[in-house]
Amino acid sequence: MRAYFLENPAETVGGDKLHDEGIFYLKLPTAEAEFRAPLDTLCAARGYVSQDVVQLGSATPNLEPLLEKFFTEHLHTDEEIRFVVAGEGIFDLRDCDDRWMRVHVVPGDLLIVPPNKYHRFALTDTMHITCKRLFQNQDGWAAINRPAA
Ligand code: LAC
Ligand code: NI
Repeated sequence: MRAYFLENPAETVGGDKLHDEGIFYLKLPTAEAEFRAPLDTLCAARGYVSQDVVQLGSATPNLEPLLEKFFTEHLHTDEEIRFVVAGEGIFDLRDCDDRWMRVHVVPGDLLIVPPNKYHRFALTDTMHITCKRLFQNQDGWAAINRPAA
């Protein structure tokens, strides 16, 4: 994981800043045999009741509209929990002053976007990511796009 302000990439966003913004970050091993136990512990501790796997790549049907949707600024009323198992991706997250913080994630990165935090997602130029998505409550999870300013 590496993070910086989008408007000034030389300005790094550190772990303390992410923490202050309510963003949870954890590095786990990349091998399933090694990440399963700590991931199960985290799910139990935080009340995650279900999970699935999402894979985005050049073979994904309807990739373009999906990426357009993910890159539209939005929030959720539940947490958004992503554990990267392969590939890489970009999360842009608004800080409390409405500045974009850009977070690059790679395998082993677990990122939790808190409820009601505006964000968007993009692939990098490698054009591939495989993530586990964990859910507190699958029913309530929907994207709410940011109203145009
Ligand atoms: C989502 C991510 C991409 O809402 O923000 O699925
Ligand atoms: Ni989202």
